[in-house]
Order: sequence, then C-alpha cells, then structure tokens
Amino acid sequence: MGDDGPADDRYRIDGFAFLGRTFEEYRRMFDLDPDRLAGERVLDCPGGACSFAAEAAARGAEAVAVDPLYGPTPDDLAARCARDVERAVAALDGVEHLYDWEFYGDAGSLESYRRAAAKRFLADYESTPDRYVRAGLPDLPFADGSFDLVLSAHLLFLYDDRLDHEFHRAALCELARVAADELRVFPLVGFDAERYGRLDDLRRALGAAGYASAVREVPFEVQRGATEMLVVRR
Ligand SMILES: C[S@@+](CC[C@H](N)C(=O)[O-])C[C@H]1O[C@@H](n2cnc3c(N)ncnc32)[C@H](O)[C@@H]1O
Repeated sequence: MGDDGPADDRYRIDGFAFLGRTFEEYRRMFDLDPDRLAGERVLDCPGGACSFAAEAAARGAEAVAVDPLYGPTPDDLAARCARDVERAVAALDGVEHLYDWEFYGDAGSLESYRRAAAKRFLADYESTPDRYVRAGLPDLPFADGSFDLVLSAHLLFLYDDRLDHEFHRAALCELARVAADELRVFPLVGFDAERYGRLDDLRRALGAAGYASAVREVPFEVQRGATEMLVVRR
C-alpha cells in the first residue's frame, strides 16, 4: 500500500458502505460489559453487516438491527457486502496514516474482521430474518423506550460530508426516543478524523428535548484520536 504522492487528509468512499463489525469490535468501541447484555433489549442502528446483533442474541440479549438496506435475499446482500468490503479496504490505500493499527495490525487483518462479521451476520439474517428491520433514520418504527440500550456506529458524524446537521439532530433525538435507558454513538469524527464541529449544538438540542448527554472515552482507537463516544440518557 501507499504511493509516492502527497498524503491525503481524509478517507474517501462513495455512498454508504454496507459492511459491519464483530461483537468484539463493538465491545471495545462502546466499552460494553458483555455480562450485562443477557435479558437486555438492544438495538443496533445502523446494523449493516455487523455480527453484533447475532452475537448479542447468542448471549441472551433481545437484539434487533435496523438498516435501510435490509430486505433483499441473503445472496443479494452477500454480494453487496462483499463488494463494499473490497472497496472499503481498497480506499485505505494512501490514508493509512489516519489510522492506529495496534488492534488490526494491517489492512488484511481488518478485512478478515469485516468478512467474519459479514459471514455471521448473513447466517443470522437467513435464519432469523425478524431480527433485521428495514428502516432508516431519522424515523424508526418502534415505540418510545422500546430498547434498554441503543447503539449507533459509523453513520452519524462519520458521514458528516453527506448527512447535514438537521439530519444529525433528528436522528439523535429519534435514537434517544426509542432508548429506555441509554444511547451510545461512536465515533464522533468524520472521515478526516476531525471531531464533528457542532457536537455541542447537538447536545444542547438533546437537552432541550429532555435528554442528558456526556462524551466518554472508550478503550479503542482505530481512526487516530477517535476514542470518544456520545452517551445519551433520559
Ligand atoms: C459503515 S456501515 C456501519 C455499520 C455498523 N454500525 C458498523 O459500525 O460497522 C453504514 C450503514 O449505514 C446505513 N445507513 C445509511 N443511511 C442510513 C439511515 N438513514 N439510517 C440508518 N442507516 C443508514 C447503511 O446502509 C450502512 O449499512
């Protein structure tokens, strides 16, 4: 990887990549205690091709995942996911300096994590289709407080070059609405690894809607400096 040209300052990918992380990656980036998941109602939005919901369910959680790209046959989703994992990994070429490689080691290992997550996700998507709900922020088809814990990774803030501030405000309020206890969002940076510029405005909007929020350090660094999550509570 790498070239002789000037280092780029942001990761570039067209559209929204349909891919996902494993339970272990979620555990680290959301600083989760796996032993506390049993019996919890948990929502992963966007779920993408994550194995988190499948693995959380195997640990006794009532896990649901939401993504606007759910709905096609497992074979069709597998093809979309394989294509997106490939282009997402290829897009790392030339911007490796924006990432901390301590956890993954290299891009090949990162790709193995994405493929492992997709494999487990696709098996669960096929065997337990009701777990996977086709919907999109900022409108979720759930009653207030439907989930004890709501997790949202790698959509808000990350895609801030194509999702505007009003979308972020509405999406955060919607995710908080369906959380009975807590919402966690990670990371708080865009593809340039810079923290979202109007995070305080969003926290004020959440406050006005009746939610308390805090920024918490997590024990996981992939994008350099992206070691914080937003925690929102009623
Ligand atoms: C990079 S993946 C993140 C998946 C997973 N949360 C993770 O951390 O690996 C981004 C996902 O956001 C989904 N997405 C795009 N627009 C969305 C929206 N309006 N509401 C919910 N999900 C959306 C895409 O379909 C895609 O699966």
